[in-house]
Amino acid sequence: MPKLKLKKNIQKILGIIVVVFLLGSIGLFSYLKISKQKAYEQTYEYKLLSKGYNNDEVKLLQSKFKNEQLDYILSQEKNDTYLNLVKEKYFIYDKFYDYLNYYSNNNNLSLTEVITKVNTNTSRDYYEEPIKTDISKKELMLVNKYYYLDENYEPENLVTIPLTYAYGELGSQKITENTYNAFLNLWNAAKEAGYTLVINSSYRDYKKQEEIYNEYKKQGTDYADKYAARAGYSEHQTGYAFDMFAIGTNSKNFHESNTYQWLLDNAYKYGFILRYPEDKVNITGYSFESWHYRYVGVDAATYIHDNNITFDEYYVYFVETHS
Ligand code: DAL
Ligand code: ZN
Repeated sequence: MPKLKLKKNIQKILGIIVVVFLLGSIGLFSYLKISKQKAYEQTYEYKLLSKGYNNDEVKLLQSKFKNEQLDYILSQEKNDTYLNLVKEKYFIYDKFYDYLNYYSNNNNLSLTEVITKVNTNTSRDYYEEPIKTDISKKELMLVNKYYYLDENYEPENLVTIPLTYAYGELGSQKITENTYNAFLNLWNAAKEAGYTLVINSSYRDYKKQEEIYNEYKKQGTDYADKYAARAGYSEHQTGYAFDMFAIGTNSKNFHESNTYQWLLDNAYKYGFILRYPEDKVNITGYSFESWHYRYVGVDAATYIHDNNITFDEYYVYFVETHS
C-alpha cells in the first residue's frame, strides 16, 4: 500500500475513534445526569420543595422529623402548623401526632398551649391512664396526677429532721439524706437573711397519704383532688418534698410573708422549687401551695426558676425525653 494512503486510512480510523469516544462520553454524561436527577427526585428535600416548602423550611423539617413523619407531611397539603410546631421550644417529635390531634379538636388554643398540655398529659383526664414513675431518676422522678408510686415504695436513705427545723415529735419528720443536706444549706442562708424556716410535713407513706386524702374527700372528690394527692400520687411519698413555713405563719398567710418572697428568689440556688405555684394550677392540677417545696437538684431547679416552668414540663422534656 502506498505510504500516503496508509496515512490517510490511519487518520480516518483515528477520526472515527475520536467521534465514537466523544459521542460515547456525551451519552454517558447524559445518562449519569438523568440518573442523578432521578435519584434526587426520590429525596425528601426534592419532595418537600415540590410541596411548596422553601429551602429553610425543608432544612428545619428534615432536622426535626423522622422519615415516617416526613412521609405523613408529604401526604398532606403544605401546612404551616408543622413548621410552627417544630419551632416551639418544648416540641417533642414522638408526640407529633398527639399535638396534631389535640390541636384539631382545640384550635382555640395556641400551639404553645397545645405542646404544654400534651407534654404534661393535661390534655387527658387526671388518673386516666396512670404511668408508673421511673424511680431510678431519684430526685428527678415525677409524681403527679399521671405518674404514680407503688403502694410499698419507700425512699432509701430517709433521715430524721431534728426539731430545730421541724414541728412535731422527734422522728415524725423525715426526708431523704440529699434533700436534708440541701435543706440545711437553704435553712442557713435563710437564717442569714433574717428568716427562720420550719418544716411541718415531710415524708408520708402511702397509708398516711390515704388518710389525708380521705379526710379531704369528705367534702367531695373534686374538692379533695384540688388540695391533696391520692395515695401513690403524692410527692410526699418520694421523700424529696416537704411543706415549710416561716415560724409563726400558716397556710393562710405564708404567701404574704417576706420569707415566702425570699424563697421564691433563692430556693433554687439550693436545689428547691415551689412545686404548685399560683399561676400554674392548670398544669399541676393543684391549688396554689405557697409552702410545698420539692428537691430536684440545683441544675433542674435553676432551669425551672429561670424559665418559669413547672417540674411537670421540665421532667417530660429534659428527663424523660432528652436525658
Ligand atoms: N398537697 C399535695 C398536693 C399532696 O397531697 O401531695
Ligand atoms: Zn406538700
